[in-house]
Amino acid sequence: MKPNASGGRDNVRLYDTLDSTNDEARRLSEGGETGPLWVRSLEQTKGRGRRGRTWLGEPGNLFTTGLFTLTCGPAEAANLSFVAALAVAEAIDLHVTQGAVSLKWPNDVLIEGKKTSGILLESWQGQAGFHLAVGIGVNVRTRPDGIDQPITCVADHVPLGHLPVSAEILFETLRHRFHDWFDIWAQRGFGPIAQAWLARASGVGQPIIVRLPHETLEGRFYGLAPNGALQLEQADGTIHEVTAGDVFFG
Ligand code: BTN
Repeated sequence: MKPNASGGRDNVRLYDTLDSTNDEARRLSEGGETGPLWVRSLEQTKGRGRRGRTWLGEPGNLFTTGLFTLTCGPAEAANLSFVAALAVAEAIDLHVTQGAVSLKWPNDVLIEGKKTSGILLESWQGQAGFHLAVGIGVNVRTRPDGIDQPITCVADHVPLGHLPVSAEILFETLRHRFHDWFDIWAQRGFGPIAQAWLARASGVGQPIIVRLPHETLEGRFYGLAPNGALQLEQADGTIHEVTAGDVFFG
């Protein structure tokens, strides 16, 4: 049984500037904070992306980290990156053309096929237990350079005549959707999360290329394993489970 996170949805600390919201979540936990708690900063000076990349922290975009203390271990906690991706997608849905938002394994959120959000999970063992930081970056107003894939921002997809979107508005919806999905996960496990994620994932059943640190794999995107690994069907019909890598379509 995992803790119910609903109580923390309005527990927010807002900063003008931070090195990284993930770093601040960790510092708070080292000071005794257990969460659920959301750290948000208007800008970041040392934002981190997956696989050691930099995540630029331009004002106008959303930088936030949810801090949790969990009774499960790291493998199960990794499910929360899918929870976060669903929450981000649903928050963006409200502002852009219907059907424009999709998900890309492991936890990118795309608008019309271009990346607009990334998620970085970090965990550590503290005195109060096992802590998880769910770091979420959303390009709301600008498209920072330096990402090796097509990139976009939410503002570029707001239909004419609609109100401009802000990081603050997105954050409100995102937090609530995150906690709603978190509670489903805590009560019913990864099944419903995987199902909802797959329903809006890009490339399921299609040919994909998965780039790992030391090799590149090709095959068909078959589905998600119970632990969230990507199932890649190879030419000989075997299913290879990939736990970390970058996916390319086509
Ligand atoms: C990715 O590489 O796709 C993940 C990017 C995650 C960026 C967010 S911004 C808020 C939080 N703080 C960080 O330093 N990184 C994450």
